Amino acid sequence: MIARKKPTDVLDNYRLTLGRDEYVPIMVGGMGVNISTAELALETCRLGGIGHISDAMNPFVSDKKFATKYTKAKSTKHRESRDTFDKTNVKFDLDDLHRAQLGIVQSAMEQKKGDGAIFINVMEKLNMASPGDTLRMRLIAALEGGIDGVTLSAGLHNSSLKLIADQPRFHDVKIGIIVSSVRALKIFLRSGSRVDRLPDYVVVEGPLAGGHLGFGADWREYNLKDIVVEVIAFLKKEQLDIPVIPAGGIFTGTDATEYMQLGAAGVQLATRFTVTEECGLPDKAKQTFFASEEKDVFVSTLSPTGYPLRLLRQSPCIDSNVKPQCEPLGYILDKNGNCQYIDAYEATPVDAKGRKLPVKDKICLCYHFSKYNAYTCGHYVYRLKDTSHRLADGRYQILTAEHVFNDYLYSAEHKIAAPEPAGELAPEERPSKTA
Ligand SMILES: Cc1cc2nc3c(=O)[nH]c(=O)nc-3n(C[C@H](O)[C@H](O)[C@H](O)COP(=O)(O)O)c2cc1C
Repeated sequence: MIARKKPTDVLDNYRLTLGRDEYVPIMVGGMGVNISTAELALETCRLGGIGHISDAMNPFVSDKKFATKYTKAKSTKHRESRDTFDKTNVKFDLDDLHRAQLGIVQSAMEQKKGDGAIFINVMEKLNMASPGDTLRMRLIAALEGGIDGVTLSAGLHNSSLKLIADQPRFHDVKIGIIVSSVRALKIFLRSGSRVDRLPDYVVVEGPLAGGHLGFGADWREYNLKDIVVEVIAFLKKEQLDIPVIPAGGIFTGTDATEYMQLGAAGVQLATRFTVTEECGLPDKAKQTFFASEEKDVFVSTLSPTGYPLRLLRQSPCIDSNVKPQCEPLGYILDKNGNCQYIDAYEATPVDAKGRKLPVKDKICLCYHFSKYNAYTCGHYVYRLKDTSHRLADGRYQILTAEHVFNDYLYSAEHKIAAPEPAGELAPEERPSKTA
């Protein structure tokens, strides 16, 4: 008998079903602050997948995008506390927050084309000096703005569903959560059962993801595949038909296909999209991502949220001594006006000339994310150079989201297709790359 070669399985052989809707099984993950832009989400949606906008620091993002003045108004209102470390009264104006979020969501939804969807990533850990009120306002405004789905992240979201249970779209909008363990999922399911709402999908994020991690210093002891298998087995045992979407370190179409073969419903991806035209990072950051080496990537304890944050050592935020920016920004302040960066800043001595020395323990997350100074990335950022060309001027060719999206969909055997060269190639550019 002649052995027949098994046809190669590719990601495009699968579809992601959420309720009655079917998508290409690619979710581009939320990346704040305005790294996963509306443009990136819209392009993903046009191609049939699910794109995320982020709701991190949206009043600030709205000011930059639409020339609104929320940040200035907040800064002026709280100017008295600028020279003290007491930020107890630095609060957000909830109406402004509502307007900012609504504006951003509506603008994205009005431009929507194609068969995909646009979701919003909502992080619980952004306490915004009044955790319940501000989170509720962000969620309500997103639903009112017509968002297709909400991905709850950076926290257990024990009360988040309850905050919006009376919103008319509560049972119609898609709601999912990002978890890193069965334990976290169980907590969320319990809170959901109190308002009769199961999640429509669960993103299982492993330790190689970008952004903040749902693991401690022992993150190396975990791996995404094991957690995904455990979550799928748990849901099966509970007879819960909830799609599972792995995330973190899925770098090739073949990686993605292997998860589909394991029973995943789709995949969430981010790092490979950071070097696309549609991504909000400045060009300098994109080039640094491309040129990075494995030794440059580390999981830091610099975030004042208390969660580990994966960063590149080249991040301009490291060793900064910027004054806490709570009056204009203040997104990390807890309900009592505390932020770990304020403490670290206060404890940092000054030099002989009275200048603040570099703050070593924490970064001002608000300031540095507002300036794209914190180069957060997935662990495999150093492989991005294998996804493009180095051009004769020494720069890496920026990709399009469509190119990366299609590479995930159609590539096999862990191959990565380089784009059509956009100019003369650098001399060392390997000829083996295929267009
Ligand atoms: C630059 C960057 C910023 C991110 N920001 C967020 C965020 O604001 N909220 C969030 O839940 N996840 C965030 N993530 C995680 C991604 O949404 C995604 O789940 C994960 O990075 C996927 O792994 P990959 O980057 O290896 O593909 C971020 C990831 C990156 C690379």
